[in-house]
Amino acid sequence: MNTETKPAYSPGLAGVVAGETSICWVDPNAGLMYRGYDIHKVAEQANFEEVAYLLLKGELPNAQELMDFGREIAANRELPEPVLDMLRLLPKRMHPMDVLRTGVSMLAAFDPDLNDHSHEANVRKAIRLIARVSTLITDAWRISQGKDPIADNNNLTHAGNFLYKLTGKDPETWQVRMLDTIFILYADHEFNASTFAARVTASTLADMYAACVSACGTLKGPLHGGANEESIYMLNEIGTADRAEAWMKDALAKKKKIMGFGHRVYKSGDSRVPIMREIARDYGQRIGKPEWVPICETLEKTMEREKGLCANVDLYAAPVFTMFGFPSELNTPIFAVSRVAGWCAHVIEQHDNNRLIRPRSLYVGPAERPYPGAARG
Ligand SMILES: CC(C)(COP(=O)(O)OP(=O)(O)OC[C@H]1O[C@@H](n2cnc3c(N)ncnc32)[C@H](O)[C@@H]1OP(=O)(O)O)[C@@H](O)C(=O)NCCC(=O)NCCS
Repeated sequence: MNTETKPAYSPGLAGVVAGETSICWVDPNAGLMYRGYDIHKVAEQANFEEVAYLLLKGELPNAQELMDFGREIAANRELPEPVLDMLRLLPKRMHPMDVLRTGVSMLAAFDPDLNDHSHEANVRKAIRLIARVSTLITDAWRISQGKDPIADNNNLTHAGNFLYKLTGKDPETWQVRMLDTIFILYADHEFNASTFAARVTASTLADMYAACVSACGTLKGPLHGGANEESIYMLNEIGTADRAEAWMKDALAKKKKIMGFGHRVYKSGDSRVPIMREIARDYGQRIGKPEWVPICETLEKTMEREKGLCANVDLYAAPVFTMFGFPSELNTPIFAVSRVAGWCAHVIEQHDNNRLIRPRSLYVGPAERPYPGAARG
């Protein structure tokens, strides 16, 4: 017998406040702050290591703390040999997001702090995860291409080393700076789907690796992190700016979801878009490929006029990654290289002040009815 009154319900949890955080604030009116610092200032002045430190520890590091933190990340980058062996066994065509999820899961076996959820142990695990997610992606990609992984260059920052490990070439200073900025933009975004998945997992007092496996699985989907891969296929299909408006109108008429547009929280623009757009413009000018930005801008204008929807960061991340020379399948994993810092910060916050996350559902099945018993059939 149903004795419950009908509970409040918001499909997709839209607008529902599911917890408190002091890590990040997304302002629906195109603002974003990491622990009280405006993203525009952070993106301009910090590097990824500083931001990861800020997210994990709550304050910006001083020069010595930053140096120590960078060294700790560098010291933890190498993958355990059995993980490398496992990467060699995977089918070459496996999507890098699936490889990443599998790799993070296996890394758990090699972390001596796995089941210690104390604040200190969680910070140690977070540093290992930040260090090794990057290596999982670069090493796995090289292995899938029939190449050997290459040793780290610990004179480079996390962003610089990522570029070096992927390509085997020394990156330009401006490329490292751009990738640092991109990592900063992607590092956290309060209760986005993958972070929320990580927090749900952590809230059962499962470990940080389990939480990051949940997060990797969630990031993959095209409505979330997977959008930056889908966006490049869309931009390639459009090809030139003069085709963009007609393409968009046709897609909207067919009720298609346009990748790189819309957002659950931002309704008057994504705070990260102006920075990413300028990176795309700058990169395009430097390498003589200025055509991406006009395509995106035409799409933005058309979408604004037709549906009142704004672009999100993934629209511009997609061509930027292409200009870097990254294979499209790596677009979402590269997002994870950075977002793992946010996932870990949220797991630490969850474990430090835990309450099981367990919402209700609204039952819409049949009303109570008599059970037919053994005579049925
Ligand atoms: C991000 C996203 C999942 C948010 O979804 P949401 O908050 O549930 O948005 P809603 O479904 O409430 O959207 C409101 C309206 O805009 C439409 N809409 C939202 N995003 C759209 C998009 N990218 N393309 C076309 N229409 C879109 C919806 O169809 C809906 O229209 P309707 O009222 O006529 O039915 C959604 O915008 C989307 O799928 N975007 C594309 C994927 C993407 O870029 N993801 C990365 C996000 S950072």
